[in-house]
Amino acid sequence: MPSYLITGTSRGIGWEFVNQLSSDPGNIVFGLVRNKSTVEAQVPEEWSERTNVHILQGDITDYSSLQSAAAEVAGITGGGLDYLIGNAGAVAHFDAYDPIGVLGEQPEALERELMHLLRVNVVGNIHLFNLFVPLIRQGEGKKVIAITSGQAALDMIPRLSIELSALYAISKAGLNTAVAKFSAQYDKEGILFMSICPGLVNTGRYNEASPEQAERVKVMMKSFAEYAPDFKGPSTTEASVKDILSVINKASVSNGDGGSFVSHYGNHQWL
Ligand SMILES: NC(=O)c1ccc[n+]([C@@H]2O[C@H](COP(=O)([O-])OP(=O)(O)OC[C@H]3O[C@@H](n4cnc5c(N)ncnc54)[C@H](OP(=O)(O)O)[C@@H]3O)[C@@H](O)[C@H]2O)c1
Repeated sequence: MPSYLITGTSRGIGWEFVNQLSSDPGNIVFGLVRNKSTVEAQVPEEWSERTNVHILQGDITDYSSLQSAAAEVAGITGGGLDYLIGNAGAVAHFDAYDPIGVLGEQPEALERELMHLLRVNVVGNIHLFNLFVPLIRQGEGKKVIAITSGQAALDMIPRLSIELSALYAISKAGLNTAVAKFSAQYDKEGILFMSICPGLVNTGRYNEASPEQAERVKVMMKSFAEYAPDFKGPSTTEASVKDILSVINKASVSNGDGGSFVSHYGNHQWL
């Protein structure tokens, strides 16, 4: 029975991972969330007939909560885990609408926001992966996926002059490097580590933009459309997760995918 653990499943892309994966009764799906009671109550409302969803309490910045989650998973599966998807991630309002030089006018806020993003997106996932490697080793799937962002793609930033979300992009670049290092250590054991960007997905990132901020986002979207003429704006969580799962299913250590950083298309076409 293939087992999956996805972090950050209270909403957005994470919730949709649970939806698609648990639609197969042959899968066992663990969703790690910070607010277990709320999310657990939503499961029977959404999927009354599904018994293969387990909601676990955990904050990826709280090491002991991740230790408890790993023990809980091992207790249910008998010790192993096939697939780990590190989807939980922090974004910042602070860097969403201004370039890095403008953010620098508030040095303390810049440092505070960057440290928070690094703590969640980089350190949190490093702890997560280290704690779950013993389970993945015992599983059959042997795949660990980090949900990253094309905002960190060094072939995109200069080409499109993407000024916004600098701190977030820096944190995802750190995550990608961590994933490559995990791969360097574990690919000889047949464990695949890779970073996948979900594309631009409508999960409410720019909902609170002022008219002036929305204008800056529009400029960025325009450059996205020039880069990818088929790009018609943010996609849905359904489409994105379907694409990501297809990439995960095709990827393998033997194909040379270990440590790679790709889009939901499985390549460097980011949009
Ligand atoms: N949407 C996009 O266009 C896009 C593009 C590129 C990359 N991504 C990446 O895709 C992933 C999912 O994005 P999304 O748009 O679905 O995000 P979202 O709607 O903001 O959801 C983020 C999820 O992460 C959880 N989370 C945040 N901090 C956490 C922590 N410390 N411990 C545990 N869980 C935590 C949140 O839980 P709470 O409900 O408790 O806050 C929530 O479930 C993220 O890694 C994001 O960076 C998204």
